[in-house]
Amino acid sequence: MAIQWFPGHMNKAKKELQERLGGIDVVIEMLDARLPASSANPMIAQIAKRKTSIKVLNKQDLADPAVTAIWLNWYRSHPGTSAIALDASEKSPSQRLIEACLDAAPNRGSVDKPLRVVICGIPNVGKSTLINSISGRRIAKTGNEPGITKGQQRIMLTDEIELFDTPGMLWPKIMVPQGGYNLAASGAVGRNAMDEEEVALELLAYLIRYYARELDARYNIGDIAGMQDWQVLEQIGRKRGGMLPGGRVNIQKASEIVLADFRSGAMGRLSLERPDEWKAWEKAAKEAAVIRLAEKEAARLEREARVAKAAKRR
Ligand code: G4P
Repeated sequence: MAIQWFPGHMNKAKKELQERLGGIDVVIEMLDARLPASSANPMIAQIAKRKTSIKVLNKQDLADPAVTAIWLNWYRSHPGTSAIALDASEKSPSQRLIEACLDAAPNRGSVDKPLRVVICGIPNVGKSTLINSISGRRIAKTGNEPGITKGQQRIMLTDEIELFDTPGMLWPKIMVPQGGYNLAASGAVGRNAMDEEEVALELLAYLIRYYARELDARYNIGDIAGMQDWQVLEQIGRKRGGMLPGGRVNIQKASEIVLADFRSGAMGRLSLERPDEWKAWEKAAKEAAVIRLAEKEAARLEREARVAKAAKRR
């Protein structure tokens, strides 16, 4: 069972974003550096197609630096797109953003006509943390200005760069099953929408493949090569999660430990997806959707044929 999560009103958010982007020159999309593609909201890319875009791979302190470098290069290879990696320990995040904005839109922005930048991202990527750290006393409420919602928060990054927050919530749209699991592992999916054991097993399957050393260092599992995800989860349960009466492993507790350790970075700096992998997952998800549609259509035709046959018999 993949993660099914549709918590928000996408159409409302879409309309708000469309309105918001009217007077905007640059769109900053914040992503989780451990799962940049899964934490992207495809609606943003769709609506902001013609805008200059900056991808901020946030929480880089938790992500595998080598994989983050691959993602940065990948984003930068797209026209009109630049990318930076950031985390909450950054001493001058506004400086990094200013540089990124000036690089992305050189020759734009003056005191008379400042560069207008909007920052968006799904919940939990660290948008509030970043905005709080850069805002200080530079927050101003907007007045009557074309394309800008009255009363909205505006942060003056410099005299020439205005940064706006997006109104409303931009929830993730889960189109790729692995993306759902990665979002759930990162903590971006409501707890009641996921089965922790299932998410922990998916996470472990990925970590066994790429980060066996880190897993062993954290849980002292020994020779992980050849072990299945559920075997590793049982080992972790035996070592850390406590046992249930009757000598059974407390799998729920073990799953919670694995997820908490991943989220806090206790296993080290780990990333859950690479660009090529994401492309393959996306392709498989599209093919599965086409097959599902074909099966649905075949079932509908069969139903119609049965009804027609029954009518003929009468
Ligand atoms: P949001 O507005 O996008 O929803 O995200 P928010 O800033 O609320 O951040 C979500 C969680 O991520 C917070 O943790 C926050 O501290 C953490 N976070 C934000 N930026 C970074 C970062 O660069 N690195 C790391 N490691 N963590 C980051 P929390 O546990 O939900 O809250 P709290 O414990 O900070 O109160």
